[in-house]
Amino acid sequence: EISLFYRFDPAHVAEDGVTFLDLQGDRLVARPKDAWPAWYENDPDRPQLRFSPFQAWMNDPNGLCFVDGRYHLFYQFHPVEAEWGPMHWGHAVSDNLYRWTHLPVFLHPEQNLWSLGATGGAFSGSAFVGPEGGVSFYYTERLPAYDLFKDYKEVQKQVVPSADLLHPEANRVVLIDGPPGSAHDFRDPKVWYDAARRVYRMVLGAAIDGDPAVLLYGSADGTDWKYLSVLYRAPEHFRQYGARCVECPDFFELDGRFVLVMGFVGYTEPTTGRHNLLYAQVGTFEDDRFMPLTPELQELDFGTDFYAMQSFRAKERQIAFAWLFNWEFRKPAGSPYSGELSLPRVLGLDAQLRLTMLPEEGYRVLRSRALTQDPPGHFACEPGQPIEVSLAGALDGIRIVGRAGDGESFMIAHVSGRLVISVAEDAGEIEYRSTPLSLGNLTLFFDRGVLEIFANDGAVCGTRRTYKNTALIRLEVTPSDATRIEVCEAWSYNSVWRE
Ligand code: FRU
Repeated sequence: EISLFYRFDPAHVAEDGVTFLDLQGDRLVARPKDAWPAWYENDPDRPQLRFSPFQAWMNDPNGLCFVDGRYHLFYQFHPVEAEWGPMHWGHAVSDNLYRWTHLPVFLHPEQNLWSLGATGGAFSGSAFVGPEGGVSFYYTERLPAYDLFKDYKEVQKQVVPSADLLHPEANRVVLIDGPPGSAHDFRDPKVWYDAARRVYRMVLGAAIDGDPAVLLYGSADGTDWKYLSVLYRAPEHFRQYGARCVECPDFFELDGRFVLVMGFVGYTEPTTGRHNLLYAQVGTFEDDRFMPLTPELQELDFGTDFYAMQSFRAKERQIAFAWLFNWEFRKPAGSPYSGELSLPRVLGLDAQLRLTMLPEEGYRVLRSRALTQDPPGHFACEPGQPIEVSLAGALDGIRIVGRAGDGESFMIAHVSGRLVISVAEDAGEIEYRSTPLSLGNLTLFFDRGVLEIFANDGAVCGTRRTYKNTALIRLEVTPSDATRIEVCEAWSYNSVWRE
């Protein structure tokens, strides 16, 4: 076991349930319960159906797993302010993927970053549930003060948790250096076990000679890892438009195929100018080689607030969460927290080998009531309560507008063969357009500024976040001459923050 540096002492972190943390000197301490703010009731922008941290900053979902009948969610967490900073792993647990119990911080930075005045820490990673049920986590530690403070370095670590998954019991470095041609960026491990060959495999995001790439590692025991090959190297196009490396690769088997999901750091999509996009490709994985079955990468979500998706296996489904965020459109200053997760999405493949995503069905039990239409297609909403609208038929040309007291909140329309989303922004409305499609069904959820839409059985998804006009009072569905609506239903939702 190699411990490279001073280990930050987690002993001070509160043991019980939801807790608020403050930084005193360079230690995190639990705030007394009587000094907790009314942290979720008072925030008009806090989603009521989705996970968000009780305070401070979150980004990527990490360590997702289903263990002893409960879902565990870990996440990139900077516990003392609503800005990115020294990274910890927050932790929450749920019976149903919607109502979460917030637990103490699970991982702390290896170095005492606050006293160094640096960022880095326990970066993203995933859970591995072994063939005999044992759990371990693999993650990246970014060490800003490495090599006599010259530069940062990203190393891969393996954590064995306590049986209740509340504390790390062993934490060891398993990979220090990347292969020849790689540089600083070397992160976000995802591990699986190939039962037929009895070998462990890991993918990592990196760059090889400047090309964004996914690296493949192998192991016989899950601890001693060897570099095998470049699993995926991005075409020249990505480098040309600014991509520096791959991050948050996800690689998993689905319906007999393999799916690779990636984010490209620094990339600007040239036709739309968008950043922060996730891409997927479906293929086969044999003899440690990934062979794409589709010529193109699939843009996973056309709304650009859907990033760092991670999936895991539970109850024979592949379930994913993503971080609903875009560095360009930030939460207004002064909020007690930043960062939210998407609805849990169940992944599938359609006939064209596109990755499809649909909300995990547990949301249905959170419905409070069906909304009535008056006139047809017009729904009066309960301001602040999440709403779902479900439509089916021949929907080309349809238009859906959400109105808040202060004006339009969002507009979704099928225009010139594409789905368009626009939401209220301080800088005026910005439109997001899907790839061309003929629209057969559409489900949308709006939850205090978070808009997630699922079209054509989840083959086309769009997610946008706005902080303006978030209390919906009215929703209007307007058909065009070409539209034939067969199903038009809407529900109001209870909050997952209350029983
Ligand atoms: C993605 C990411 C990961 C990294 C983490 C750090 O949002 O940049 O690549 O591990 O965030 O917080």
